[in-house]
Amino acid sequence: IHEQPAAITKTITPRIKDSLPDFTEDGIPDSFFEDVSDITIVACGTAMYAGMIGKTMIQNRLHIPVTVAIASEFRYEEPVISDKSMVVFVSQSGETIDTLEALRLANKYTKKTLSIVNVKGSSIARESNYVLYTHAGPEIAVASTKAYTVQAASFYLLGCKLGLVSGKMTEADAKEFIENLQEVPNLIESVITQAPEIEQLTKRMVNATNAFYIGRGLDYTLCMEGALKLKEISYIHAEAYAAGELKHGTIALISEGVPVIAVATQSHVYSKVISNIREVKARGAYVILLSKDKDITDKSICDVHISLPQAPDEFAIFESVIICQ
Ligand code: F6R
Repeated sequence: IHEQPAAITKTITPRIKDSLPDFTEDGIPDSFFEDVSDITIVACGTAMYAGMIGKTMIQNRLHIPVTVAIASEFRYEEPVISDKSMVVFVSQSGETIDTLEALRLANKYTKKTLSIVNVKGSSIARESNYVLYTHAGPEIAVASTKAYTVQAASFYLLGCKLGLVSGKMTEADAKEFIENLQEVPNLIESVITQAPEIEQLTKRMVNATNAFYIGRGLDYTLCMEGALKLKEISYIHAEAYAAGELKHGTIALISEGVPVIAVATQSHVYSKVISNIREVKARGAYVILLSKDKDITDKSICDVHISLPQAPDEFAIFESVIICQ
């Protein structure tokens, strides 16, 4: 977790020239980003959740349709990809067999295959037409932490390049975006200083049998990763819900004391998430709220508030994920 500022810096710095994304050293030509009709992102687990961040960011910014596919499903179904489709494979190890087989399938349909891989020379890196190596260093723990954030950062670079090449982002927009991305390591450093308080908070959760993560938009995609991390590391059952979806049945599982981690960093849906929090609070949930508010005036909405440093909405996921990890 603590290696993330360095891992992100190492991953993005060689790909930024004059505050703009540049993949010359990766050998990815601008033509790769031209004439892209749609994007499919294929991966497993945490790598797929990083893909969901990429999807939401790219779709919102560029209005290009993006699909995220579970590799173990994609490889056995009929792929809807054409020679104009970009297909991005995400893998820390570069050896996950479902992702590799999905890549082999996609290679039959389009030349626009790219992998985001951490391990140099791995099978997925070798078999995709283009590779963007993340520089997270060895991911020794079973749980992927720094690999996720560098994958998400790679999508931000790719999305920005695609925006420039497709004319959907101006140079000024792109520069501002990249400057915000370059601030991410500092944001993460400042979140890491909250580690002692977070540790205290986990004591409240240690005996829980169920937990829920709720959010909207980018926060929702981040919640999926948060829930996976909790399940994998603490064996506590956790589910991520798009905050507005919870009321369609699952809210029945929110009873007295059930921890709900609510993430509310996206301004355009902030008030919506707050209303959803009121719904779970009314059922007795123990709410941990992550938001960029300095303070929460209405104390009735949450039991604990974690204040995240101010960052543009698109970049707040890099802060929230540290807390979730
Ligand atoms: C979760 C985790 C897994 C991996 C998944 C894909 O913490 O590590 O979900 O993300 O098994 O592995 P890679 O990225 O190596 O293809």
